[in-house]
Amino acid sequence: MDLKQLKIKLGKLVLDTPVLPASGTFGYGDELQDVTDYKFLGAIITKTLTWEQTQGNPPPRIWEFENGLMNSIGLQNIGVRCFASEKLSCLKKLKKPIIVSVGGKSPEDILKCIEFLDRKNGISAFELNLSCPNIKTSKIISEDPRSTFNIIKKAKKITDKIIIAKLSPNVRDICETGIAAEEAGADILCAVNTYKGLYYDWNNKKMYTGGVSGSMIFPMALRAVYELYQKVSIPIIGVGGISSEKRALEMIFAGASAIGLGTFLIINPELPMKICKFLIDYLKTNHTNLQSIIGLYNEKRQKETDC
Ligand SMILES: Cc1cc2nc3c(=O)[nH]c(=O)nc-3n(C[C@H](O)[C@H](O)[C@H](O)COP(=O)(O)O)c2cc1C
Repeated sequence: MDLKQLKIKLGKLVLDTPVLPASGTFGYGDELQDVTDYKFLGAIITKTLTWEQTQGNPPPRIWEFENGLMNSIGLQNIGVRCFASEKLSCLKKLKKPIIVSVGGKSPEDILKCIEFLDRKNGISAFELNLSCPNIKTSKIISEDPRSTFNIIKKAKKITDKIIIAKLSPNVRDICETGIAAEEAGADILCAVNTYKGLYYDWNNKKMYTGGVSGSMIFPMALRAVYELYQKVSIPIIGVGGISSEKRALEMIFAGASAIGLGTFLIINPELPMKICKFLIDYLKTNHTNLQSIIGLYNEKRQKETDC
């Protein structure tokens, strides 16, 4: 399979393929080499790291619905300092851009992570998890455009590395936070994180809250990317419920320059390979290239094509 035609630039971030793991479903990035062929991935994205090591929420943390999952992991991770000393060198050997997802209970925690990791070699980009619905915090940053603007602005002062803003879908209008992130200098948007959900366990008669992912969120995630594409000029990584090759292509048509696989990467580690193969066949059959099909659904693109 000749992957060359799948090479894509998201601003300064150059990816071998547009297929990415979604944060939190791919460990720290190196653990899944036995089950996933990394040559089909455009980059490595770590699970979200926080300043201090975090135990996460008490179990249970994952619940299954007919068409998706709900999780409440609560950002369990080893912390940025342990990541830098124990994981980063292994990731560098994979020869892929390394995107480190950073998060925390406050903007200060997130900025402290960036400041520390910025001094380490080998990291291409920071994905700011501004949208985790599963931690006890006063506010989810990307539910508010002003808070989103402020943290990105501060992050841009700390680092020259690429900044990706991962947005919450739990808002009235995702374009407001997308535009705020762009205006503050974000290089790329990632849409979307999980949707707030609730699960009732009939066996132990308990109710749980968490973030919903998987097929059931695909139409909403697709719409979020579609609307963002019309309002912002920076590239978008489309994430949410991508379960198949066709869903991946639809996300690109909606405006995603790259796509993130979460729940379905856990279920089917061969999905990146299948999507790459499908995209190559699609481009060949339609005598086109990847860049030309990004955003094909959009009115903006349709008008350009009309003229
Ligand atoms: C088990 C699990 C853990 C996750 N952990 C993180 C995380 O650490 N950081 C983050 O930004 N998103 C996290 N997410 C959200 C995913 O990256 C993704 O945005 C979301 O699941 C939607 O994509 P999907 O439907 O393909 O799973 C997690 C999702 C799942 C299912």
